[in-house]
Amino acid sequence: MTAFTNFGPPDPDSPAPDLPDPGQSGKKSAADKAPVVAFRNVSIAFDGPPVLNDITFSVAPGETRILLGPAGVGKSVLLKLCNGLLRPDSGSIQLFGEEIAAMPEEKLFPLRTRIGMVFQEGALFDSLTVRDNVAYQLIQENVPDDEIDTRVREALSFVGLEETFSFFPASLSGGMRRRVAIARAFINHPDMLLYDSPTGGLDPVTSTTIIELIVKERDVHRTPSILVTHRLQDAFMLCTHEFATKYDCMIPFPNGETDPNTTFLMLEEGRLIFDGSLQDLLKSQNPFVREFLE
Ligand SMILES: Nc1ncnc2c1ncn2[C@@H]1O[C@H](COP(=O)(O)OP(=O)(O)OP(=O)(O)O)[C@@H](O)[C@H]1O
Ligand SMILES: [Mg+2]
Repeated sequence: MTAFTNFGPPDPDSPAPDLPDPGQSGKKSAADKAPVVAFRNVSIAFDGPPVLNDITFSVAPGETRILLGPAGVGKSVLLKLCNGLLRPDSGSIQLFGEEIAAMPEEKLFPLRTRIGMVFQEGALFDSLTVRDNVAYQLIQENVPDDEIDTRVREALSFVGLEETFSFFPASLSGGMRRRVAIARAFINHPDMLLYDSPTGGLDPVTSTTIIELIVKERDVHRTPSILVTHRLQDAFMLCTHEFATKYDCMIPFPNGETDPNTTFLMLEEGRLIFDGSLQDLLKSQNPFVREFLE
């Protein structure tokens, strides 16, 4: 298995590192490219007042948006609006350049297959093996068995769990189950990833292995994503670390730099109250943001 637990800086005596561009923060911001998903004035209610009210934001290619907010504020609802599992009452949602707010299900389906989703709590099927859980979408698409095996092994290798191919989820730890759920989301090399509380319920060390996988996917494949988390330390780790392919682990950006394409959204009572960088988040004078950070 790969060195998922090695988070420190490289050993100065080891061979010359093959790191990404120095400090990546010098690279161009993704925000000026055509968005992968864009919400304009989106609202949705169920039985009572709106859960999300007049929400406008976008995700550019290569961008990671970290979605913060208290329990029940509508974070999972927002993710499900992105892939059309829920439809808004009003407003526009553009996905891969197409308006999906009222798109018929049969037209939406091919767009949805381009998105990988890690559901809250992982949501594995206990009656299926790891292979069949990870292959779920490929099985729906009638991909031949031997190709499925190859691609499942590739996805399991990415998350460091090749040996679990024939296991059932019940025999895995919580962190391993979450990594299987991530392999399932990665299997089709998606054009966007939605992570719903991928570290929820995990201990800090296991959470770090999950964050490292997310950093790896972000930096190796540049897949745009929205990530929900309650854990600020996970959010900060995503901003302050990059994946070093040569060491097969994440390392801190030098000189306290941060990834310019990993930015924040925050919801409060159905409203988007923050949209910006880590630096702006830390400087925010919004009392709710301050309370959340403290
Ligand atoms: N399909 C649904 N039907 C009715 N109400 C719903 C539905 N989905 C979500 N809600 C309601 O919308 C609100 C927001 O739910 P959501 O699951 O998005 O919260 P959340 O921010 O993800 O919370 P948590 O941090 O606990 O996961 C809740 O009051 C929830 O009961
Ligand atoms: Mg939720």
